[in-house]
Amino acid sequence: MIYKNYNDILSILIIFTFINIVQIINGHEDKILALEKRIQDLEARQQQYPEVTFLTYKDRKRILITGGAGFVGSHLVDRLMLQGHEVIVADNFFTGRKRNIEHWIGHENFELINHDIVNPLFIEVDQIYHLASPASPPHYMYNPVKTIKVNSIGTINMLGLARRVRARLLFASTSEVYGDPEVHPQKETYFGNVNPFGPRSCYDESKRVAEAMCYAYAKQEGISIRIARIFNTYGPRMHMNDGRVVSNFILQALQNEPITIYGNGKQTRSFQYVSDLVDGLIALMNSNYSMPMNIGNPDEYTIEQFAFKIRDLVGSQAKVIYRDPVIDDPKQRRPDITLAKSWLNWEPKVLLNDGLNKTIAYFRNELLVKQHSERNVFFPNEWLHSSNVNTMKTTKNIEL
Ligand SMILES: NC(=O)c1ccc[n+]([C@@H]2O[C@H](COP(=O)([O-])OP(=O)(O)OC[C@H]3O[C@@H](n4cnc5c(N)ncnc54)[C@H](O)[C@@H]3O)[C@@H](O)[C@H]2O)c1
Repeated sequence: MIYKNYNDILSILIIFTFINIVQIINGHEDKILALEKRIQDLEARQQQYPEVTFLTYKDRKRILITGGAGFVGSHLVDRLMLQGHEVIVADNFFTGRKRNIEHWIGHENFELINHDIVNPLFIEVDQIYHLASPASPPHYMYNPVKTIKVNSIGTINMLGLARRVRARLLFASTSEVYGDPEVHPQKETYFGNVNPFGPRSCYDESKRVAEAMCYAYAKQEGISIRIARIFNTYGPRMHMNDGRVVSNFILQALQNEPITIYGNGKQTRSFQYVSDLVDGLIALMNSNYSMPMNIGNPDEYTIEQFAFKIRDLVGSQAKVIYRDPVIDDPKQRRPDITLAKSWLNWEPKVLLNDGLNKTIAYFRNELLVKQHSERNVFFPNEWLHSSNVNTMKTTKNIEL
C-alpha cells in the first residue's frame, strides 16, 4: 500500500516537474524571441551613411560650420561631408534642427556640438563657415538683443578662433546690408540704405557691423576672411513657419488657405535655390577674393508673380489676398553678380520652377509627418549615386 502511494506521489512529482520545465522553457523561448526581435530592431536602426570621397590627410580639411543644423548650413554639411572633409557643426538649435543633419551623426568625419556661439569656442580647424544667426524676420525680431549679440559677439568669437588657429573664415552676410536700396541691381560697392532704428535694424545693422569686424581682423590681425552677401534663398529643409515668402506661399497654397501678400505685390525679389548658394559659398571660401561678394540669383520677380507661380505649381485653388505692407520692407532686390561670375566662375544653375517643385515636394511630405518616428528625408542629387541610399531607413523619401 505504502509502496503504491509512493509510486503515485513520484508520478505526480514527475508530472509537476515536467510541467515546470516546459513552462520554464516556454518562458525562456519568449525571452529569446524578444531578444532576437530587439537585435533585429537595433540592426535595422543602425545608421547607414552615404558614401563619402576618401581624402588623404593632406587634402582633408577640418571645417567648422556655425549654424550647421539650419537650412543653409545643413546643405553645406552634406556637400562638404560628401567631398570627404571633417565637418564640425556648432549650433544652439535656436532655429536649426537635429533632423537636418541626423543622417551624419555617428560618422567618423562628423561632429555635432550643442554650442551657443555668443560663448567662445576652442577647437582646432582649418576653415570656418560662420552661418549662425537667425535669418527670417520673425526669428530675428523674436529676440532682437540676442540677434545683435550673435552677429557681434558671436562673430568676434569666431574671428578670435580664426586668429588663434590661423583658419580662414567665411561670414554669411546678407543682401539686407543694402536695406531698402536706391541702386538697382545692387552691386557690392553700394553702401546701402538701412534704417538703423527700426524692427529690422537688429539684423541689418549687426550684419553690417560683423562685416566691419571681418575687415578689421583681416587688416589688423592678418586673418584670411571671405564675405558672402547672400540674397533670398529657398529649398528643402527651410523652416516651415519661418514667415519667409517662399515658405509662407507654399504652405498656404498646399493647405488651400489664402495666399497673403503684404503691400501691393509689386515689390520685387530674386530667389536662389540652396544648392546654387552652396556652390557659391564653397567657391568663394576657396578663392582668392577677400572683399564682400554677392551670391544670389539675378532673376527678378514681383511678389505677386511669385504668389501666382507657386499657386499654379502646387495646383491649388487658394485665393491671393493683400494686406498692409510691412515696415521697412525693401521695394526691390536683385543682385549684380558680375564679381561672382568673374572671380568664381559661378552663376546660379537651378531654374526657378525646378527648385520650387523640389521645395513643394518637401513641404508636402513635411505636412504628412504625424509621428516622431516618421522621417521626411531630403536626398541631395549626389546621394542618388551612393549605394547606401536605398538602405537608409526612412518613412518618406523625396528623390530629387
Ligand atoms: N536663407 C536665406 O535666404 C539667407 C539670406 C541671407 C543671409 N542668410 C544668412 O545665412 C545664414 C544661415 O541662414 P539660414 O536660412 O540657414 O537660417 P536658419 O535659421 O535655418 O539657420 C541658422 C542656424 O544658426 C543657428 N543659431 C542661431 N543662433 C545661434 C547661436 N547663438 N549659436 C549657435 N547657433 C545659432 C540656428 O539654430 C540655425 O541652425 C544666416 O547667417 C543668415 O543670416 C540667409
